[in-house]
Amino acid sequence: MLKRQILEKIYWLGAIDWDRRLFDSLIPLPDGTTYNAYVIEGSEKTALLDTVDAHLAGPWLAQLEGLAKIDYIVSHHAEQDHSGTIGQVLQRFPQAKVVTSPKAKSMLMDLLRIPEEAIVTVADGETLSLGDKTLKFIHTPWVHWPETMVSYLEEDRILFSCDFFGSHIAAGDLYVTDPCRVYEAAKRYFAEIMMPFRSTIQKNMDKLKGYDIRMIAPSHGQIYDQPAWIMDAYREWVAAPPRNLVVLPYVSMHGSTQIMVDHLIAALLERGVSVEPFNLVVTDIGKLAISLVDAATIVVGTPTVLAGPHPLAAYATFLANALRPKAQFLSIIGSYGWGGKTVETMAGMISNLKVEVLTPVLCKGLPTPDVLKALDNLAIAIAAKHKEQGYT
Ligand code: FEO
Repeated sequence: MLKRQILEKIYWLGAIDWDRRLFDSLIPLPDGTTYNAYVIEGSEKTALLDTVDAHLAGPWLAQLEGLAKIDYIVSHHAEQDHSGTIGQVLQRFPQAKVVTSPKAKSMLMDLLRIPEEAIVTVADGETLSLGDKTLKFIHTPWVHWPETMVSYLEEDRILFSCDFFGSHIAAGDLYVTDPCRVYEAAKRYFAEIMMPFRSTIQKNMDKLKGYDIRMIAPSHGQIYDQPAWIMDAYREWVAAPPRNLVVLPYVSMHGSTQIMVDHLIAALLERGVSVEPFNLVVTDIGKLAISLVDAATIVVGTPTVLAGPHPLAAYATFLANALRPKAQFLSIIGSYGWGGKTVETMAGMISNLKVEVLTPVLCKGLPTPDVLKALDNLAIAIAAKHKEQGYT
């Protein structure tokens, strides 16, 4: 693939990873991804913004062949999907300087063994002149690591945002053509890597308020030539109150927990509470993460196995605890055969969650009418809590 022009002297170079299905050996990528790099040819200096994941270095480096020089390699983020080919670019353009944040400097040295003398650091708000074009660097920690920054091309009003506002979509179209599709992919991305840092993301959004942004060019997915909607979406994901929604990750071994889950779903819906169940045997955990962005309540459904929660339920709980969603309430339901410490074990796994725990409903064997009644009471309690908080 050849480099593609965005505006005069500004180009996309990148790699489309159509077949990648897992990121960080953790995050499902149902639609593949892209690694976007950009070149800005100023009247005096040429800057390359980021690189690509090293496994696609070969075809990507071919895109550099027409470039007479690279003076600066701006590294917005040290994670290897963007920094992984910096070493090879430096071999080809040994005079180039890697421009990055002070925190990223040591990361690039540790993770990629980039030599210290090749790196220059830039402070928050510092500018870099390319002659007739000027890059301004804005430190934006935790989008996605603590060292992350973005850059704003002042003359052309383009925000190069790296992971911020990104989406994992492999697409041939350079610009967003289907905002609904991108909305879901961007929300998935936010949920999986930025949701735990909402207060810092909010500060980063506030920092961008003073900039007139004509276009957002992220390092994953398509370019936003109409950026207002994705910025509005981020504001909502970060700061809007949770919705009148229960997210219900569950697993059932012999059907008893499934009966409880089905009963609770019906009881919640009858009381006007939305519910999104996720059978953990078949679910895409990215979908679960998206649901956690909005949910006011989490209910985990698990049988007791080997004296504790089913490992799939433990994994979902660990994930929810790590992602630190907005949820205010949590409960546990499930069946057991003879005993165990499921509730105690689960309670020890949610230390990051600022939730009120609603009375769990555990059942020995097949659910009895009393158990179904207890599930009705749980649904009543959830509906009342949501109403009290004004969640709609
Ligand atoms: Fe796309 Fe955090 O790297």
